[in-house]
Amino acid sequence: MHSLANKHILLGVTGSIAAYKAAELVRRLREGGAEVRVVLSAGGAEFVTPLTFQALSANPVHSELLDTEAEAAMGHIELARWADAVVVAPASANVIARLAQGRADDLLAAVCLATEAPVAVAPAMNQQMWANAATQDNLQRLRERGMHQFGPAEGDQACGETGLGRMLEATDIARHTAGLFDTGALAGLRVLVTAGPTQEAIDPVRYLSNRSSGRMGYAVAQAAAEAGARVTLVSGPTALPTPPRVARIDVRSAQDMHEAVQEQAGGADIFIATAAVADYRPAAPAEKKIKKTTDTLSLELVRNPDILAGVAALPGGPFTVGFAAETENLLAYARDKLARKGLDMIAANRVGGGLGFEAEENALSVIDANGVTELPQAAKSQLARRLIVLIAKHFRRRLG
Ligand SMILES: Cc1cc2nc3c(=O)[nH]c(=O)nc-3n(C[C@H](O)[C@H](O)[C@H](O)COP(=O)(O)O)c2cc1C
Repeated sequence: MHSLANKHILLGVTGSIAAYKAAELVRRLREGGAEVRVVLSAGGAEFVTPLTFQALSANPVHSELLDTEAEAAMGHIELARWADAVVVAPASANVIARLAQGRADDLLAAVCLATEAPVAVAPAMNQQMWANAATQDNLQRLRERGMHQFGPAEGDQACGETGLGRMLEATDIARHTAGLFDTGALAGLRVLVTAGPTQEAIDPVRYLSNRSSGRMGYAVAQAAAEAGARVTLVSGPTALPTPPRVARIDVRSAQDMHEAVQEQAGGADIFIATAAVADYRPAAPAEKKIKKTTDTLSLELVRNPDILAGVAALPGGPFTVGFAAETENLLAYARDKLARKGLDMIAANRVGGGLGFEAEENALSVIDANGVTELPQAAKSQLARRLIVLIAKHFRRRLG
């Protein structure tokens, strides 16, 4: 179950006898690599205690909508933004009816209204409640609005009856949750991504580098793999784990990265260059450690190869996406880079003010020949998924 790695899953637990199974679901989601936060409805809290979910999720449990302390920490809008997916399991008949009405009078319903993330319900109820036309109508409305439905299953029920309405088992719900991220938008395509900084040797122990953490590139590689692509990640030195289903090639200098990319680019359909490649390198790195013998020291720098322009210039080369990190004149610099290097698309991000390098969040202006699409501030993993959707759309448009 790879697609749960690094995902933020908001689990809504509501007033069903199946609420105890949600405890196991937290464990399954975390085993899959997700971070889990639990919102417990008033009904849910009658069946299971917040302490159980706090201990299992290793996060505070949220239940109050109108709570000044909670709003200051993580209120409904922050939870809605935090979530990569919202899963309501078990989903009682009551909560399904309330979601169908679009209510916002408790925390879970408000989060479901406020989130851009996919929302799924795993119904759990007595078979008569399930079969009731009201419940069926409510679920149909939710499905029509794009809400996902996991189950229910058929079998013996806690009330002694037999029929449809049992909540799916935790492992099945976790698997379906992972499936929410497998979009298939890049199915069958080969995607090459560069990420991280490069290190340009000054002598055997020193180098020139930059503040890139590699997070954006790793998130892009992961999102591309989840979209069904075969992904190769050429990475400068970072402290990040390789995303699942991604083949990683480690490099150190811009020249190493250039060579690795040249080798791989011919077979790629899409090239996404997120790496912060050094523009210059020391002309002649010292063979031995430079000693502190003079008051000043000059380094002569020479230009590094332009990896991105090199790929964009390949005849019949891949759909090429560049990144531009700038502290000023963002759109103007990015448009110039798009045209000058002959790229298909460029994602521009402002560096500074808590965004960009070393930050958890980012915001992108994505530019291509047709104009600009703004991807507002969000976690890098969420932005990466939105960027991949855009790239897939424009790649297919280019194919005609
Ligand atoms: C013992 C017991 C078990 C219940 N089990 C369910 C259930 O499995 N599914 C359901 O939809 N409602 C069930 N209910 C009714 C809900 O708990 C009730 O509608 C509650 O208001 C739902 O709260 P919620 O809106 O927070 O989910 C049960 C009630 C009791 C007393």
